Amino acid sequence: MSATARKSAPLPDDIMAMKGGTPIVSLTAYTTPMAAAMDAHCDFVLVGDSVGMVLHGLPSTLGVTMEMMILHGQAVARGLSTAMMVVDMPFGSYEESPEQAFRNAARIMAETGAAAVKLEGGVHMAETTAFLAARGIPVMAHIGLTPQSINTLGGYKVQGRDAAAEQVMRDASAVSDAGAFAVVLEKVPAALADRITETVATPTIGIGASAGCDGQILVVDDMLGLFTAFKPKFVKRYATLGDDIDKAIASYADEVRSRAFPAPEHIFAEKAPSK
Ligand code: KIV
Repeated sequence: MSATARKSAPLPDDIMAMKGGTPIVSLTAYTTPMAAAMDAHCDFVLVGDSVGMVLHGLPSTLGVTMEMMILHGQAVARGLSTAMMVVDMPFGSYEESPEQAFRNAARIMAETGAAAVKLEGGVHMAETTAFLAARGIPVMAHIGLTPQSINTLGGYKVQGRDAAAEQVMRDASAVSDAGAFAVVLEKVPAALADRITETVATPTIGIGASAGCDGQILVVDDMLGLFTAFKPKFVKRYATLGDDIDKAIASYADEVRSRAFPAPEHIFAEKAPSK
């Protein structure tokens, strides 16, 4: 979908209808200016719980809170006019019961204006997905590598290799049958991602999956080269803004120390006395 031709943000049903068509474009965002920069180019923007690692310096996404997601969701909403906004449900806010998930998802949607929430998990989250979808909360599922479960998955490994492929396939079918309007496939073998994409009715959004997915997502700070603590193999850097920032700040520091900044054009003269 050409965002320039679009007058208003798509709804989850519009994203669903993009299955098998022009790939769905999405990125994460956490702030108003970044959301505004991507608004015209993306079909949807995800306020990912990656915000915890990317902006708050947390070691994983496990420490992200409802308050953080709501605050960043509100900031992103102010920057968007033509892309749909999805907000991640943080660890501990939905796993206990469908009722807990509904309470927190409804709060996220009411306080941020998000069109949908994303939650991690396949078969074991199908009941919750159906519960939310039946009560007016569109759900984007997230399977394969689910970063909120790194402690039980044994780290950030590729998921679904060899015999484990069938479990990821079952996860995809379960969330699709439960009514998820899209499913993120993170770090799964390309052949498996292609098989899931061909099998389920729900659009697949790949991150470290396959170009054959119905859409792609990246963490914006990764693709801009702003987050450099580590670079997963699936990240393509479209810019090296981290290096530019480092150079700019080093020049500023040099110029302050040498008194080259501020220059005459940055300072104010006394006002000429009036006669
Ligand atoms: O939190 C996040 O940024 C995500 C994407 C990587 C899909 O879940």
